[in-house]
Amino acid sequence: MFEPKVFRGRRRQLLKSLTSGIVLLPGNGESPMNYVDNTYPFRQDSTLLYYGGIDRPGLFLVIDIDDGTTTIFGKEPTVTDILWSGPQPGLAELRERSGAEKVDDLSALDGALTHAIQQGREVLYLPPYRAETRCQLEDLLGLKPGQSLLKHSEELARAVVVQRSIKEPRELAEIEIALETTHAMYSAAMQATCVGKFEREIAGLVEGIAIAGGGRLAYPCILTKLGQVLHNHHYHRRLEAGDLVVQDSGAATELGYASDITRTYPVSGTFSVRQREIYQAVLDSLMHSLASVQAGRPFRDSHLVAARMMTDSLQQVGLMRGNLDESVAAGAHALFFPHGLGHMMGLDVHDMENLGEDIVGYDNEIARSEQFGLRALRFGRAPAPGYVLTVEPGCYFIGPLIDQWKTEKRHEAFINYNEVDNWRDFGGVRIEENIVVTAEGCKILGPPIPKSIADVEDACS
Ligand code: GLY
Ligand code: MN
Repeated sequence: MFEPKVFRGRRRQLLKSLTSGIVLLPGNGESPMNYVDNTYPFRQDSTLLYYGGIDRPGLFLVIDIDDGTTTIFGKEPTVTDILWSGPQPGLAELRERSGAEKVDDLSALDGALTHAIQQGREVLYLPPYRAETRCQLEDLLGLKPGQSLLKHSEELARAVVVQRSIKEPRELAEIEIALETTHAMYSAAMQATCVGKFEREIAGLVEGIAIAGGGRLAYPCILTKLGQVLHNHHYHRRLEAGDLVVQDSGAATELGYASDITRTYPVSGTFSVRQREIYQAVLDSLMHSLASVQAGRPFRDSHLVAARMMTDSLQQVGLMRGNLDESVAAGAHALFFPHGLGHMMGLDVHDMENLGEDIVGYDNEIARSEQFGLRALRFGRAPAPGYVLTVEPGCYFIGPLIDQWKTEKRHEAFINYNEVDNWRDFGGVRIEENIVVTAEGCKILGPPIPKSIADVEDACS
């Protein structure tokens, strides 16, 4: 837990970017799975964690921009709450932890907001991403159903993005802690993987290590031999000799900070000749794009560096052809690399995307492309020192996409469809690192997790 002065300082900093009114930050509530008392694991809203550090369901943080005070609204835990869920911090303790000036019962929030609105004061809130929060906001602010989505404050969202984009040293230290656990997840998974095991056995091992690390997974683990399904969350397949496993998983710390790593490794312990070719193509794309990251240089450039390297390698293999620059400009590589190079990471694995993907990832200089592949790039603008990003190129053979493009003869000048047909059963490869942007370029975060062909084979043997 960070000290109260950290949260006070962050709120003070936020207020410098806002003119007047009230900031209303709703925390998350419990979310039922199949009946009210059987809930998904509780996850606090990240903006509330950032400005308040308070990790309990059912809280609201209200920051008065004009007098600079912060009030936590919530309910005191009842004896019944304690009976079923154990001791939990009361409002006074939450006030201390967050450095807030005041606390009040949740029942007083409605009146406080109504009073402020009657005085002509503006209530600023962020775009709600949960239906329950939308309903709460609409009730509290007298909005019609659905209006909370339209009336959120872009001024507030932009101010929060500016502040949370640059990670403090204490936040980087938390991400490093997450990556220590993630490192252990990969060591164990690579060692345990062998012919005859089921994906679920390895996925269970990975999730167990995340929980043992003191937090949990930052997002549902991807552990699959169908690596061409970009976000495959099914684990029922048996691993066979010749299969490649794509594992995309990251631990989150107790304070909620994420990590997000991907590795691809051979079930039998050694890559086949074809697997080596594609693996090396992805690894070269990763290394070149990492080398290209610079403060002030649009991350979109790094995406295109990866695309160019991939295209070059796939030309060597005979899958692509034609002029390299024209091929990259046309986006032909997106048949094999249809997603973006990476995204921001922090308290959220895709940091702050609830505030608006384009507010986080684009600006007046760099607008999102409409081209297939490049338009999936979630972060295209120039980073600054302290930004934490993922870098995660991949190469996939996706049957339905190949069929569609081949029928349309799309980018025929650059894609050798006859050869692509010979690779349809290949699957996919993705390799992902987490970086912090520095004054000199970037630094890979966390302990090294095997990624060269030799190191991966070593770890799997
Ligand atoms: N790790 C999943 C993703 O980046 O979308
Ligand atoms: Mn990622």
